[in-house]
Amino acid sequence: MEDKYFIEGGHSLNGTVVVSGSKNASLPILVASLLTSDRSVVSRVPYLADVDNMLKMLSEIGAQISYQDHQVIVQARELQARGQLFQFAKTMRASFLLMGALLARNGSGCLPLPGGCAIGARPVNLHLKGLARLGAEIEIDKGMVAVSAKRLRGCEICLDFPSVGATENIIMAATCAQGITTLVNAAAEPEIVDLACFLNQMGARVTGAGSPVVQIEGGRPLHGAVHSVIPDRIEAGTYMLAAVAAGGQIKLKQVIPEHLRVVIDKLREAGVDVDEGTGELFVQAPRDLSPLIIATAPHPGFPTDMQPQFTALLATAGGTSRITETVFENRFLYVQELCRMGACIESSGDTIIIRGIKSFKPAQVKVTDLRAGAALTIAALGAWGETEIDCIYHLDRGYEDLEDKLSGLGARIRRVAEQAANL
Ligand code: EPZ
Repeated sequence: MEDKYFIEGGHSLNGTVVVSGSKNASLPILVASLLTSDRSVVSRVPYLADVDNMLKMLSEIGAQISYQDHQVIVQARELQARGQLFQFAKTMRASFLLMGALLARNGSGCLPLPGGCAIGARPVNLHLKGLARLGAEIEIDKGMVAVSAKRLRGCEICLDFPSVGATENIIMAATCAQGITTLVNAAAEPEIVDLACFLNQMGARVTGAGSPVVQIEGGRPLHGAVHSVIPDRIEAGTYMLAAVAAGGQIKLKQVIPEHLRVVIDKLREAGVDVDEGTGELFVQAPRDLSPLIIATAPHPGFPTDMQPQFTALLATAGGTSRITETVFENRFLYVQELCRMGACIESSGDTIIIRGIKSFKPAQVKVTDLRAGAALTIAALGAWGETEIDCIYHLDRGYEDLEDKLSGLGARIRRVAEQAANL
């Protein structure tokens, strides 16, 4: 059943929004809990489709799970991959994070080779190269990847690209390798730091997380841990841009401004007032928005997960803006949907040129991926009239209580189930 959003734009956003726990920190941390047979408690885990899917996979593998009030209690006394796992794994790429944990805990793992998605081919060659360097035998056959290792041995691994998932997979496997592993050109996202923090609370010794060189002292006994997940910086950034696009002023609570340094800097460059408090951010929409030149990059550069949202915002800024996407090869699919709402955007290769228009026109648009959905929502909030947004299941993957949080700020947004919408 494909739900839709109907958003009546032209209403400013005002008030306070509480940021949820990070999806992209929760997923690897929940996987890391499999590295011990002890019980772990992970708090501030957001209610999202992707989290739900991951928890289903963990219980398919044999973990006992309980999940209430945003807190997951998980214990994997033993792991065994069963048939159902593949069904879940096919629907979510992040399932490939299980490979490192299965290899570390069981000495083997078998998962579907993740397919591509709307934003790119999304290969896992860097994950597999790292696991092979640690001593894993890898076999790919009929779309399945099987890895096995009698023992994992620490070593130096250099990543061709600072892949977030490969960094997470390798760190988790390396915690159970004999000896020291040094990961060079590692991803440095805050979610990597949060994973390392959880692993160290489990008794691992991971140093350098958040920098391009991470060292893991393997072979240490791992036990259960209690951890609270960091706030979702991309959710926070999305609400900041929504407030600027719709007009108004909002306060964000339970946010870490440091994780949004580049986003805050770019908003200020465009003329937006952003004040920082302890765990809080205040955003005041300006009368006029100045154009920007943006190039996405691995952290601490401009986050690719905020690229579509900035395109939606800059589509009604003054002058001409330019955005270059350097991380994914196909992350501009949403542009054609924005153009259906009147945006004036040309794309050539990895760059789009955005000529500011006065305001969006409402239209019926379709979501192609999670952050594209965020961009269309931001555009709809600023459009004069009612926009219909189809395939919002993509948004359910990454934004907890989106319509409640937006309505709480004054947006006119309603979710309609497919059948009802067709009546
Ligand atoms: C994580 O995906 C995030 N997902 C993505 O967020 C985010 O966009 C991405 O990191 C980059 O920041 C989760 O954390 C669950 P990558 P991941 O491996 O790990 C290429 C969202 O909206 N690559 O850093 O899959 C790859 O094709 C999602 O929340 C290889 O070539 O990203 C891409 O071009 C979208 N070989 C680039 O690296 C590999 O083995 C970055 O991918 C792995 C990656």
